[in-house]
Amino acid sequence: MSIETHIEKVVETPGILVVYWANGEVSNYPYLYLRDNCPSLSTIHSNGQKLIETSGINPAISPENTTLTEENEVQIDWSGEEHSSLFSAQWLFDHRLSKAAIAERHAKRNAMDRKVLWDEKLNNNLPAGDYAAVSASNEALCVWLEQVRKYGFAILRNVPAEPGMVCKVVSLFGYVRETNYGKLFDVKTTVNPNNLAFTSLGLSAHTDNPYRNPTPTLQLLHCLQSSAVGGNSIVVDGFKVIADLKAHSPQMFHLLSTTPVTFRFADQYNHIKRTETIIGLDVFGEVNAIRFNNRSVQPFEVDEDHMTAFYAAYQYLAKLIDDERYFVQFKMEASDLFIVDNERVMHGRSAYDGTAGQRFLQGTYADRDGLLSKLSVLKRDLARLVKSA
Ligand code: OGA
Ligand code: ZN
Repeated sequence: MSIETHIEKVVETPGILVVYWANGEVSNYPYLYLRDNCPSLSTIHSNGQKLIETSGINPAISPENTTLTEENEVQIDWSGEEHSSLFSAQWLFDHRLSKAAIAERHAKRNAMDRKVLWDEKLNNNLPAGDYAAVSASNEALCVWLEQVRKYGFAILRNVPAEPGMVCKVVSLFGYVRETNYGKLFDVKTTVNPNNLAFTSLGLSAHTDNPYRNPTPTLQLLHCLQSSAVGGNSIVVDGFKVIADLKAHSPQMFHLLSTTPVTFRFADQYNHIKRTETIIGLDVFGEVNAIRFNNRSVQPFEVDEDHMTAFYAAYQYLAKLIDDERYFVQFKMEASDLFIVDNERVMHGRSAYDGTAGQRFLQGTYADRDGLLSKLSVLKRDLARLVKSA
């Protein structure tokens, strides 16, 4: 046990247990919090799920008796019930409740989940995996999924150019997200397309389906045929663009992260709408999403005094997204696939001429939580293997 996780003494005070650590730190734990998080099997199931109802605990609960055991554990015998809780020093240390301790844990988690923002320089080092390798080896799959987590984008090569393979790739890490476009959809020129993706027009970089709630957080596109002239792919890191926009103008960042904007999709069978901000922020105020799709965005509902400023912010963002300094560009050949984090990395294509050749992609959606879950299980299992080797 390190000096910092060694408990020197515990003192009962009204409502709060005070723990004095060997390194001089002092931690306060409300009794209600301790009772609620008692590690005994009558409070928490061995699967980690809580068995007791928090609502049923007396908010004024207090100990009958508290002792520091020889193993440096804290035993609390509660008054008013036949129950004792035994907390390890490590658990108490890992759950210190000072603002500084909570901020430290938050920073540590952020460091573990750090994403790498990128621009055109990523062209020199495209994140990519090989289908045969990732389907045969957990290590290769882990490396590929980690690229998706870090860059929000990765290529997968040598995916057999057969229909349906895009869903098979999803099954390596998660679940297909079925939508009105189907489990998977064909991206090729069609007659009477309900979406401009199903034409030969160029598509400026965008996120897909911002009109859907929840928006699919992953998109995959797999190339089956690519003999047409043009149709080059581009991807742009929305988080990098947002970071640069924020540095340029905190005011524009504020407008784009607080102004509601509506996206809409409609055809004969569907009418889908969602109102959200273009820049999404999480509960900590950190950027966690971009929703950008100039094809499906609706007339802004911003009052007349603020419309000009909002347009300035929107156009500044759109111009950055359209700036080649941020472009990763490539031409998909048959059997290439790419995946994007659809709330971070925008994708687009140049126009193509389908008169002399064919361009045929298949696409599907999936969700990021499944991918991240698979990635953390793979990391845990591979670390275990390394340890036991
Ligand atoms: C799409 C799309 C890009 C392409 O289907 O959502 O953006 O390269 N397609 O055809
Ligand atoms: Zn798209």
